[in-house]
Amino acid sequence: MGMHEKINSLMEEVEAFAAQTKEQVEEYRIKWLSKKGEVSALFDDFKNVPSDIKKEVGQKLNTLKTKAQDKINQLKEKFESEEKDTAVSVDLSLPGFPTLQNGSRHPLTLVKNQIIGIFSRIGFTVSDGKEIEDDWHNFTALNTPENHPARDMQDTFYVNLNPEMVLRTQTSSVQVHIMERQKPPIRTISPGRVYRNEAISARAHCQFHQVEGLYIDEKVSFADLKQTLLYFAKEMFGPDTKIRLRPSYFPFTEPSAEMDISCTICKGKGCNVCKYTGWVEILGCGMVDPQVLINCKIDENKFKGFAFGMGIERIAMLKYEIKDLRLFFENDSRFLKQFTSA
Ligand code: DAH
Repeated sequence: MGMHEKINSLMEEVEAFAAQTKEQVEEYRIKWLSKKGEVSALFDDFKNVPSDIKKEVGQKLNTLKTKAQDKINQLKEKFESEEKDTAVSVDLSLPGFPTLQNGSRHPLTLVKNQIIGIFSRIGFTVSDGKEIEDDWHNFTALNTPENHPARDMQDTFYVNLNPEMVLRTQTSSVQVHIMERQKPPIRTISPGRVYRNEAISARAHCQFHQVEGLYIDEKVSFADLKQTLLYFAKEMFGPDTKIRLRPSYFPFTEPSAEMDISCTICKGKGCNVCKYTGWVEILGCGMVDPQVLINCKIDENKFKGFAFGMGIERIAMLKYEIKDLRLFFENDSRFLKQFTSA
């Protein structure tokens, strides 16, 4: 290959060259421009070029060298500035990204705390009970003796098949403990876990949570109960919430009622949550049966009281529009994460 062709083919190579990496640029700089590189070799050969074409070949050779150098410099700069860009995006003065995600309170805890807040603002204290309970506190003292049909309302887990010891089926058992150890006036709520031998489904579980309320004093009337629960409903579900009390039966209250609130979803117009009635049931309540006061050694002639009990899951489901009870117990972080800011 003559000098001309060599220069031309190298020129084409230089012009077509497109590097992918910084290392490739360096590789081609060595290939073309180092002391032993191809361009340098051509300069070495230049002395053998016949003098009549020396000028022309010389100029071409210089152009090739400049082009090669420009190309290499240009690519080198491109890669270096790209590197700089990525370096700039790492701002070491910024706070670090936490690798541990923030935890959040469980929705049942959020709702429980809210219920406690609402009742403590009108003077209710919080009292605790036991989850393993004796028959007396869970049933008998609450006017539910053995063979009483009301025991069928609650499918009981017995501890070691001992008919005397149960996993409490209701937080009403705490009422009895409080009345046994404390003189009226009593104004307290008792949140806690309860157990029932039920098949697990979207609407039922073998464990859930309740809050019990108890108010005992000298002149307590059904109007006090109603007003207390109306206040609770408005605080919990908003000031436009209405309540409705329907006559019902519980062994430990007389009279007894179930309380509905105006549907939080459709505001009473009718939807599938309220089964097109405009109302949803949220709790049971009533005036404490005098027999329960007698069982707890409280003077039933001097004192009266009201009680109520609600399921925390039910309140949480209405408040957050949760359709499946099982979500509360599965601890799926995709579910729990949704309550981070609540
Ligand atoms: N213990 C009842 C239940 O689990 C709820 C309840 C109803 C509690 C009426 C009360 C009450 O204190 O007065 O279904």
